[in-house]
Amino acid sequence: MAENLNITHGTKEEVYTSLYPQLRSLLDAERDPIANMANLAAALHLTFGFWWTGFYRVSGEELILGPFQGPLACTRIRRGRGVCGTAWLEQRSIIVPDVDQFPGHIVCSSASRSEIVVPVKLQGETVAVLDIDSDRLATFDDTDRLWLERIVALLDR
Ligand code: SME
Repeated sequence: MAENLNITHGTKEEVYTSLYPQLRSLLDAERDPIANMANLAAALHLTFGFWWTGFYRVSGEELILGPFQGPLACTRIRRGRGVCGTAWLEQRSIIVPDVDQFPGHIVCSSASRSEIVVPVKLQGETVAVLDIDSDRLATFDDTDRLWLERIVALLDR
């Protein structure tokens, strides 16, 4: 299935609209959340050409690096730290148009310029965050937030 990912070109809305049912079919075939996070990271990364696309998983009072695509990344993030730890603590998606303007942003890669983090909830509990970095400023907006929230909800099965 992943080999057959059909990547549409067009507006962001058109790309997500085409991608979403493909991701739903992909995740319908597997129940393991880590396997599904791995394929989601790969599909989003391939489709949009982001700089870094991946998951951090909740473990006690910290997030630990999970399935991702892109350059090497920080392995552990404390609750409330950085964009990821803040999204987890506050249980909400965070869009950062310019990472230099986000107090406490954790630099894993100096090429990262903007970022979006979306909490992943399984049965109402936040178990991970999806983190996407772009090497350009202001890549993410509410269209990304809405679609990515819908996409990570596919993990809740
Ligand atoms: N910038 C993130 C850290 C993770 S990396 O970007 C992959 C943060 O501030 O939480």
